[in-house]
Amino acid sequence: MKILVTGCAGFIGMHACLRLLKDGHEVLGVDNLNVYYDVNLKRARLKLIKAFKKFTFVKLDIVNRKKIESLFDQFDIRRVIHLAAQPGVRYSIKNPYSYIRNNMAGFLDVLEGCRHHNVNHLVYASSSSIYGINSALPFSEKQNTDHPASIYGATKKANELMAHAYSHLYGLSTTGLRFFTVYGPWGRPDMSPHLFTKAILEEAPIDLFNKGRMRRDFTYIDDVVECVIRIVDQPATSDYKHNSKQPNPSYSSAPYRIYNIGNHQPVELLKYIKIIEKALGKKAKINMLPQQLSEMPATFADVGHLKDAVGFAPSTSLQEGVAKFVKWYLEYYGYKHTNGQASI
Ligand SMILES: NC(=O)c1ccc[n+]([C@@H]2O[C@H](COP(=O)([O-])OP(=O)(O)OC[C@H]3O[C@@H](n4cnc5c(N)ncnc54)[C@H](O)[C@@H]3O)[C@@H](O)[C@H]2O)c1
Repeated sequence: MKILVTGCAGFIGMHACLRLLKDGHEVLGVDNLNVYYDVNLKRARLKLIKAFKKFTFVKLDIVNRKKIESLFDQFDIRRVIHLAAQPGVRYSIKNPYSYIRNNMAGFLDVLEGCRHHNVNHLVYASSSSIYGINSALPFSEKQNTDHPASIYGATKKANELMAHAYSHLYGLSTTGLRFFTVYGPWGRPDMSPHLFTKAILEEAPIDLFNKGRMRRDFTYIDDVVECVIRIVDQPATSDYKHNSKQPNPSYSSAPYRIYNIGNHQPVELLKYIKIIEKALGKKAKINMLPQQLSEMPATFADVGHLKDAVGFAPSTSLQEGVAKFVKWYLEYYGYKHTNGQASI
């Protein structure tokens, strides 16, 4: 019996695979190694997980029904962690079609594979972006999420709806994880920890929207993986608190669950830049820009539901997490770090 991890060469996928493999599981990883960002980084991540005997890699585009079908035919897959997707809010403004293709058509292929092959739990990545223009903080799974602010958020919301339909129709146990700004070693080059660190090191300006007042609930990768590992072992079941006459978004009579995976400690971007500056021993140059419509002013996860279910919630401080990220970044990109100051 293998655990299928889609998007295994991605940031969260690689860390999830590493943890599963260290725990002794057999892991089947798929990824199409697309060029959305530096493929060498994806290959370097893949090299780490390929070192384990119990890991099998199949290079595959999930938007290929036939190939996904034969993958499920070929391997005995009982649990699926689906992370392959087109991520990024800003990129979705100019490239909406990539989101419909990878996040909607790709998700349907995975749902179909699970449905026809007796998968007992599908855990998939949703996102804090689905809260969109909601401003009641912290964001709770009980809130209505009908107002996404980007096509990216809209596709993640659609995934939750598609999962619900499959849970209801076919009894497929599904759990959606609304990740809140995940960061850490081997992180994505299109995300702020990477972009800001790179800009500071290269003495280039950092573009900062809304005068740096935006707040993000930065969530450290090891905490995220701990949640994924605990959740994958707890298939969603029908929730009898569900009342179809007064539906609550967080309950269902179908085996369907949604959890916020966030740190519950939002931090203003200006403060966050100071933490990176301290870790690098170098000052940032900042280019203040107006607010963008696609950017949510704040994200802040209510994690009560998660804690009740798995007895754990992320809590790594930003100081600790950024220090680990910066250490990895400097090593990976060949910088020196002497007397608390980074240099080439
Ligand atoms: N990192 C975050 O802060 C964050 C926040 C919210 C949600 N998420 C979601 O979590 C998941 C993982 O995110 P990540 O940060 O690791 O992203 P990532 O881009 O590093 O990983 C995704 C991986 O999926 C692969 N992929 C994309 N489309 C594919 C396809 N059609 N077929 C096969 N492989 C494909 C990519 O090559 C990549 O390696 C995504 O679904 C993302 O939307 C991430």
